[in-house]
Amino acid sequence: MLTSRDTARKPKMHRILFVCLGNICRSPTAEGVLRAKAPHLQIDSAGTGDWHIGKPPYGPAIEAAALRDYDLTPLRARQVRVQDFHDFDLILAMDESNLADLQRLQPENARARLQLFLDYAPESGQTAVPDPYYTRDFEGALDLIERASDGLIAAISR
Ligand code: 4NP
Repeated sequence: MLTSRDTARKPKMHRILFVCLGNICRSPTAEGVLRAKAPHLQIDSAGTGDWHIGKPPYGPAIEAAALRDYDLTPLRARQVRVQDFHDFDLILAMDESNLADLQRLQPENARARLQLFLDYAPESGQTAVPDPYYTRDFEGALDLIERASDGLIAAISR
């Protein structure tokens, strides 16, 4: 049985925000994958950049995800904001550059824990999800995102 001391030591990680640069490839893919795998969680995604605000995910990312039964079509890009550090339990960056940008934005009294998403896929041997907008490797990005999502679900359900 969980005691109040156990729950105090183990904060709930129910509200999860994925962050990449444009919010049209990697972070919306992660949002779609985790939504499908863990519908009980509150999940969102955002970009550090502002170029694609209001736009749906990139067509080839939507198509690659759809082939694995993940629906990204309802998602719309938005930019990350300081309030996100108060509204989410966990903010997960797709690469070190996203992480550095988020560290600069992070307020002193942030509630959210800030990490690299691939911290949850240590067996991948990678720290960053390579951006398929540039690499064109949408399958490789999905593989990494699925593995890290499974690792994340396991870690927060423990
Ligand atoms: P994402 O990929 O960060 O995975 O959404 C990008 C897509 C577009 C751009 C940058 C990153 N862009 O500069 O247009």
